[in-house]
Amino acid sequence: MAAIANSVEYSIRDRVAVLTLNAPPVNGLSQPLRSGLMSALLKARTDHDVDAVIVIGGGKMFCGGADIKEFASGEVSEPDVNAIARCMETMNKPVVAAIHGVALGGGLELALGCHMRIATSDSRIGFPEVTLGVLPGAGGTQRTPRLAGVTLALDLILSGRVIDAQKAHDFGLIDALSSGDLLDDAIALALDATRRGEPLRVAKYLPVKGAEAVEQTIAAALEKVLRRTPGAEAPRAIARCIAFAASGADFEDALVFEREEFLELMNGAQSKALRHLFFAEKGASKIPDLPGDTALRPVERVGIIGAGTMGRGIAMTFLNAGMAVTLLEIDAEALASGLEAIRKTYAASAEKGSISAAVLNQRMSLLRGSTDYADMADRDLVIEAVFENLDIKQKVCAKLGEVCRPDAIIATNTSTLNVDVIAQASGRAPDVLGMHFFSPAHIMRLLEVVRGKETAPDVLATVMALARRIGKVAVVSGVCYGFIGNRMLESYLREMDFLLMEGATPAQIDAALEGFGMAMGPCRMMDMAGIDVNARVLDEREAEGALPDDPSYRALVRKLGAIGRNGQKAGLGYYRYDGRTPIPDPQVNDIAADLAAQFGITRRNNITDDEIRDRLLLPLINEGYRILDEGIAYRDGDIDVVWAAGYGWPRLTGGPMHYAETMGLEQLRNRLQELGRQTGDRHGYFAPASLLSRRATGAA
Ligand code: 3HC
Ligand code: NAI
Repeated sequence: MAAIANSVEYSIRDRVAVLTLNAPPVNGLSQPLRSGLMSALLKARTDHDVDAVIVIGGGKMFCGGADIKEFASGEVSEPDVNAIARCMETMNKPVVAAIHGVALGGGLELALGCHMRIATSDSRIGFPEVTLGVLPGAGGTQRTPRLAGVTLALDLILSGRVIDAQKAHDFGLIDALSSGDLLDDAIALALDATRRGEPLRVAKYLPVKGAEAVEQTIAAALEKVLRRTPGAEAPRAIARCIAFAASGADFEDALVFEREEFLELMNGAQSKALRHLFFAEKGASKIPDLPGDTALRPVERVGIIGAGTMGRGIAMTFLNAGMAVTLLEIDAEALASGLEAIRKTYAASAEKGSISAAVLNQRMSLLRGSTDYADMADRDLVIEAVFENLDIKQKVCAKLGEVCRPDAIIATNTSTLNVDVIAQASGRAPDVLGMHFFSPAHIMRLLEVVRGKETAPDVLATVMALARRIGKVAVVSGVCYGFIGNRMLESYLREMDFLLMEGATPAQIDAALEGFGMAMGPCRMMDMAGIDVNARVLDEREAEGALPDDPSYRALVRKLGAIGRNGQKAGLGYYRYDGRTPIPDPQVNDIAADLAAQFGITRRNNITDDEIRDRLLLPLINEGYRILDEGIAYRDGDIDVVWAAGYGWPRLTGGPMHYAETMGLEQLRNRLQELGRQTGDRHGYFAPASLLSRRATGAA
C-alpha cells in the first residue's frame, strides 16, 4: 500500500484502486488531503492495472467536510473540492464512493462527484454548511437538485439536517446500501459497472428535477427559514444557487456562480460568528487543568430526586439516551403525577409520529418510580431537583451522601444556591457538583456544569463526557450567584425594569431585542419563566444583603409578583394573556409610572430601539468580562456557548463576547461610560469591568 502525501493511501484489489482518506479524526478536506486525493486520482486514471476506483474513508467516517479551520485564511487553496469532483466525474473509469460513518458538507460533495455511491446502512449524510453560515461550495447546490430534485435539495441544504443512508437511498442520493463488508461491496459494485460498461451516471448530464414552478418552491422554502433567522445571508445565497441550477444554466457556469457565493459567505461576519460558535462548543469540553486521559467513573444508572418540572425533563433526557432512571418523590401521589407526565409527553410524541410506539415502550421500560432513598443505593449518578430551598437541598444531599455508593456522583440542579454549601452537606464534597439543566430539560441543549471548590477531577471529567452522551453542550462554571448565564441575565433584567419605569413599554422592549435576534424578548421570557419565581429569589437575595443598596432595583418585577401578576400561567404579567398570546396591558405602564414617581425616575417618550439594545445588552457583556476575570468561566467562547445554547442569543452574532469583539472593545467601554453618564450613574451599574478596560487598552 502506497501513501500519497501521508493522507491518502493507494492500494489495488481486483484491479480496483482503493483510495483511503487518512486524516483523523474526521478526514476533513484540508489542503494536504485534497492534494493527496488529487494525486491519487491522477495516478489511478493512468494506472493500467486499474479498471475502477473506490474512494473510502479510513477511521470512523468517510469525511466530515471541508477543514473549517482553513476558512479563516479567506481563500481556498488549490486543488479545491470542485476540481477533485470534476476529476472524478470526468474519469473514464467508474469512481465509487464507499461511505461509512458520515459524509457531510464537502465530504458529501466529494461523494456526489463520484459516479456512484454505496453506504453502510448506519451511515448518515447531510449538508451542515448553512449552520456555519456558508453553502455547499463544491457542486452540492448543483448536483443535489439533479439527483434528488429541487424540493429535497432545498430541504436538505437550507436546514442542514442530517439524514440516514436509507432515506438518502430513497431520495436518490445513494445508489446502494451495504449490509456486509463495505469495501467488498463497493468493489463488487465498481467491477459490475466496469463489466456492464453502462454510461456512467454523471450528475452533470442529468436535468434538474422539479425545475417547473421552481420560483414559488424556492420562495416558500426560503421564507420558512427566514422566519426563524430573518437576517441570515446563507439561506438567500443557497436559494440563488438552486435557482441558478434550475434555470438550465451551463453546469460549469453554475459551479463558478456557486463558488463565488460560497467565498463571499465564507469571508462574511455571519460565517465567522457561526464558526466561532462551532469551535467554542468543541472547546467548552476541554478543562484547562484536567488531563484528557482522566479515568472516568462508569455511569449507566441514574437517580433523580424530585419529579417536578425539572426532574421530569431531566429524567427524559437520560431515558432518551437509553439510560435507566429511577425517579424519587416525596410521596406516592407526587410520584404518580411525575411518572404520568413523562408518559404523556412520550405518548404525545408518538401520536405526532416523532417516536414509534416501540421507542415509547422502550423508554418507559427504563423508568422506575420510588419513594424510598434505599433505591438510590445502586445508582451511578443521582441528581437532585427538589424545591429551590437550601435547607431542603442540604437534607436531601446529606441523605444521598449516606445511601449512595462510595463511587457514585451526586449532582444538584440548583439555579441560585451555593453548590459548595450543598456539597458540604453531603459529607463527601469531592463527589458533588452542579448540573444546571435548562427548562424544558429534555429539549434545551445547554448544561452548566458547576465545579465546586472540592469537586474531584474525575467527577468533573465524567459529567462532561456524560453530557455529550445525552446530547447536551456542557460548559463549566465556577460557583457564584447565577453561575455564568443567570448572573449575566441579572443586569439585562435590571435594565429592562428601569427602561419600563422610564417610559418604554414591554412590547417595545421585546421588539427591540427580538429585532436584534434574541429568540424571545425579556418581558415575554419573564412571563414564561414565572414572575413569582424571580421575585422570590430577589426577596431571598435581599435578605442575604446580596442586592445593591437601591430600592428601585428590579422594583417592577417585585411589584408585579406582589400583586399576583405571575406571568403567563396567571394570565397576567408584563402582558395580559389570551391563552398564550401576549397582549399589551396599559395597567403595567401605570404601575411602572407609579414606581418611577416613587423613585424619582424621569419618564421620557424618546426611548429608541438602539438605546434599549445597548442598555440591556452591554451591561450583560460587561458582566461577562467580570466572570472571566474571576475565573468563573474559562474562556470567552464558553460564555458565548451558554448564551447561544441556553438563552436564545442570535447565533449569527456569535454570542455576547464575540459580538463585543466585533463591535470593538474600546467602543464598548466608551458606550458603557456614556450610558453611565446618561442614567446618572446609578450605583455604578455601567462601570466598565476591569478586564474590559484592560483589553480595550491592549493591557490584557
Ligand atoms: N473542519 C475542521 N475541524 C473539524 C471539522 C471540520 N469540518 N469537523 C470536526 N472537526 C474537529 C473538531 O473541532 C474536533 O476537534 P478537537 O478534537 O480539537 O476538539 C475534532 O475534529 C473531532 O470532532 P468531534 O468531536 O465533533 O467528532 P465527532 O466524531 O463527534 O463528530 C462530525 C464528527 C460529525 C464530523 C462533527 O465533528 C461535525 O459535525 N463536524 C462539522 C461538519 C461540517 O459542518 N462540515 C461542513 C464543513 S463546510 C464544507 O464542507 C464546505 C464545503 O461545501 C466546501
Ligand atoms: P418543582 O416545584 O416543579 O419540583 C420540585 C419537586 O421536588 C416537587 O415535585 C416536590 O414534590 C419534589 N420534592 C421536594 N422535596 C423533595 C424531597 N425531599 N424529596 C423528593 N422530592 C422532593 O420545581 P422545579 O422547577 O422542577 O425546580 C427544581 C430545581 O430545579 C430547583 O432547584 C430549581 O431552582 C431548579 N431549576 C429550575 C428551572 C426551571 O425553569 N423551573 C431551571 C433550572 C433549574
